[in-house]
Amino acid sequence: MKSRVLSCIQPTAEMHIGNYFGAVKNWVDLQDSHDCIYGIVDLHAITMPYDPSHLRANTERMVIDLLSCGIDPEKAILFIQSLVPEHAELCWILGCLCPYGELSRMTQFKDKSELLESGKSFISAGLFTYPVLQAADILIYRANFVPVGKDQEQHLELSRDLADRFNRQFGTQLLVKPQALFTETSKVMSLADPNRKMSKSLGDRHYVGLFEEESSIRDKIKSAVTDSGVLPPGVGMSAGVANLFEILKACGKKEEASLLWGQYESGGLKYTELKDVVANSLVELTTRLRSRRKEISDDATTLNAKVKEMSERARDLAKETLKLVREVVGLPERE
Ligand code: TRP
Repeated sequence: MKSRVLSCIQPTAEMHIGNYFGAVKNWVDLQDSHDCIYGIVDLHAITMPYDPSHLRANTERMVIDLLSCGIDPEKAILFIQSLVPEHAELCWILGCLCPYGELSRMTQFKDKSELLESGKSFISAGLFTYPVLQAADILIYRANFVPVGKDQEQHLELSRDLADRFNRQFGTQLLVKPQALFTETSKVMSLADPNRKMSKSLGDRHYVGLFEEESSIRDKIKSAVTDSGVLPPGVGMSAGVANLFEILKACGKKEEASLLWGQYESGGLKYTELKDVVANSLVELTTRLRSRRKEISDDATTLNAKVKEMSERARDLAKETLKLVREVVGLPERE
C-alpha cells in the first residue's frame, strides 16, 4: 500500500511561478509514488479580511489552475475544504485538546496579527485557531506525509503534538502522526527585490504569473534586478543573478544553465543573454500551461461535477475517521 500524502493551498487570485516551482510541481510529481490528497482551503482564507465574491471565484480558479498544472483526478483527490464539513468538526474537538499557550507562540499568527493591527483591522479568533484547522486537515485523512515549506514547520509540529495528545488522552492509536516531507524544490525570489521570496503582494514587477502572456514575461525578466551595487566580500554572485539561474534550473534547463554558469565563472556572461534564455524557458512553460488551462476551463460543467465528486470521495474518508473520533471522545453515534 502506498503511503498517504496530504497538502493544501489557500485559494489566491493568481498562481505565480514561485508557488509552482516551490510546491505544486512537487505535488504533481508525488502522484505516482503516493496516495495523494490535495485540498483548496477556503475556510483558512476567511481568517483574514476578504471579499466573498472574490473568494468563490478564486476557489473555482484554483481548481482549474491545479488541474492545468497536472493534478490528475485519476491519480489523486483534489477537494474543496468547505465541502468536507468534517474538517471543521474535528477542528473543534482538537481545539479542546490544544493548549492556548501553544497557539499564542505561533509565528505566523504573530506576523499576521501585527499586519492586521497596523492596518487597524481586528484579529479574529479564527486566525488564532488557524493551526488547529490545519491539524484537522491533516489528521482527518490519517496522512503519513505532508509536503510543506519551512514556513509551515511550526504548524506541522503542532499537528504532530495534537495527534500524540489525542492518542494518549483517549488511549488509542487512531490518529497518525504526520511527518514533514522536505523534497528538493526551488525557492524562487522576487525579480525586483531578490532578497525576498517571490510574492504577488510585493507588486506587479516582483512576480511572473503561471499563465502570464509572453510580452509581459519578457518585460519583467528584462527589468529583473541583477547586480545591484557592490557585493559583500566573499559573495560571488548577486542574489538577482542567482535567482535567474534558479529559475532556469527549475524550468528543467540544466544544460543551458551550466553552459551560462561556465561563462559567468570565466567573466564572459552577458546578463541580457541570460535573461533571454530565462524568458524563453518561462514563455515555453506558461504557453504550455495556458493551452492546457484553456482546454480544461472550456469544459466547465464537467469540471464542476468532477470537483464535487472528488470532494465527496474525500468526505467519505473524512467521515470514517470522524466516526471513530466521535466514539472515543464520547459523542453519540450519528448515522
Ligand atoms: N497553512 C498552509 C499555507 O499557508 C495551508 C494549509 C492549510 C495546509 N491546511 C494545510 C498545508 C494542511 C498543508 C497541510 O501554506
